Amino acid sequence: MTAVIESLVNRFLQSTKHRVDVPLANGADFFARTGAWVTVHFAKLARDWTCYEINDVHRAELAENMPNARLVFADSFTQLAGDELFDVVLADCPQGLFGENGAYCEHFEFLPKVLPRLNDRAVIFFNVNVQPYQNKDHAVSRPDYYGMTDFDEWIKRRNAFYSISANERLSEDFIGTHYSSFFRSHGFGLDHLASAFEPSNLPGHPPFICRQIALLSRL
Ligand SMILES: C[S@@+](CC[C@H](N)C(=O)[O-])C[C@H]1O[C@@H](n2cnc3c(N)ncnc32)[C@H](O)[C@@H]1O
Repeated sequence: MTAVIESLVNRFLQSTKHRVDVPLANGADFFARTGAWVTVHFAKLARDWTCYEINDVHRAELAENMPNARLVFADSFTQLAGDELFDVVLADCPQGLFGENGAYCEHFEFLPKVLPRLNDRAVIFFNVNVQPYQNKDHAVSRPDYYGMTDFDEWIKRRNAFYSISANERLSEDFIGTHYSSFFRSHGFGLDHLASAFEPSNLPGHPPFICRQIALLSRL
């Protein structure tokens, strides 16, 4: 998992080196966990970091992995009202449904809320699940914190977000076009998009988590 992120970050920095002057000032990870999978690989992109995480159980490991960051243990959705602007944002949201009564699904509600908090030129990380694995027929071996087994509702929400009609596999072309117009409709041009698939650990299900790093400019 971490090898994909590390090489994606390096590829993004290489491709944007004349446009992104690293380190940028202000970074925020709104779904930080321990930071080990994704966050640590972005640390060099910003001088100051704030890491938000809802689950206090990750406090010690997150502090170890991001020793200079300000840590906030809270629901990220409640932390978006201020006027501080960010140069780098990580939206490593849970898959499926999460929040009270499945209020949120993947990054679909989060991105529109965080975009007003971006600086005029900013870097944002998010995941696209190109075809969710149907796990409702399989027993979950751990507590289902994020509605991962409410597959029908998840697919309904995903179809609405992407304006598609079935759990069809999204192509990389589709992703580029969809997010370019999504960001445009929220006031940002998509200057560069770097993507990489995580290998699939599910037999018979091809790679489905496509990591994305976007360079945006306010229109
Ligand atoms: C995919 S993990 C993030 C992985 C992390 N970026 C890393 O590098 O290890 C998603 C995290 O989001 C947290 N989370 C879920 N809902 C949240 C919310 N409303 N606010 C803040 N964190 C939340 C979960 O507890 C989980 O740790």
